[in-house]
Amino acid sequence: MSQKDQYAVIGNPIEHSKSPWIHAKFAAQTGEPIEYGRILGPLDGFTREVKNFIASGGRGMNVTVPFKLEAHALADSLSPRAAAAGAVNTLAFGPDGVRGDNTDGVGLVRDIEVNLGVSLKGARILLLGAGGAARGVVLPIFDRAPAALTIVNRTAAKAHQLVDQFAQNAADSGVRFSGGGADSAEAGQYDVIVNATAGSLDAALPDCDDSAFGAGTLAYDMMYGAQPTVFMQHAVKLGARASDGLGMLVEQAAESFFIWRNVRPDGGAVLRELRATLAAKV
Ligand code: ATR
Repeated sequence: MSQKDQYAVIGNPIEHSKSPWIHAKFAAQTGEPIEYGRILGPLDGFTREVKNFIASGGRGMNVTVPFKLEAHALADSLSPRAAAAGAVNTLAFGPDGVRGDNTDGVGLVRDIEVNLGVSLKGARILLLGAGGAARGVVLPIFDRAPAALTIVNRTAAKAHQLVDQFAQNAADSGVRFSGGGADSAEAGQYDVIVNATAGSLDAALPDCDDSAFGAGTLAYDMMYGAQPTVFMQHAVKLGARASDGLGMLVEQAAESFFIWRNVRPDGGAVLRELRATLAAKV
């Protein structure tokens, strides 16, 4: 039996997950004695798989599509950011049971601020989408003290729900916070526009006024692929700088690694290596 501490990512599908590769790099970089595998979770058997992994000595898991809500329900305790997100992507198994956390929002913020060098302090931020991915990043964005956050969604009612849910947090953080349908963006350019819609999956461009984009805008798509997404291409045409979500993937993994090991890996170095690996495959 291996002496190393066992971790895994669980999802369905799972074969294309880059998490095992990323965590192997973090382990090599930090010297932490871990092994990180992948588990194909049966659609009707998520809890059973997690319990089996715990019984076999597993220390923690990352959780991906479609199990983030089930992981939220399964956890014995939740971090405040996981409770606010309503979804869990990181499980830690300890003497007090199963702890659920959500590192996606912090991963986004770290990629924007550390890897892309764009400070969110005082920034005007536009968030496109009001589903689970959007909900998970609202509090971590407030933590960076932006001037304003606007949520724009195809279905206005879902944006209004998020504004209601987080209105008190916004007031506490001193952030101007509003949202609604496609016409709800404030006038003028935004500093950062984040695409948190599922639109890039089917090459759909979310509705958003072109005047929100400009030379001073970072347009960030949470998705990534071999080619720039339609959202990124659109943003570049309007003069903005664009990024995909590969760095968010690496940084959410780095935050999970930190939760489990109390050691912070260098996400930027692993991101550069991952990007080079993917470019070589195209
Ligand atoms: P996730 O967990 O990935 O956020 P979700 O909770 O199903 O998934 O939310 C999907 C988000 O993408 C929603 O904001 C959705 O808009 P609606 O609330 O109007 O459904 C948005 N979305 C999906 N496809 C879209 C498209 N083609 N254009 C614009 N928005 C889209």
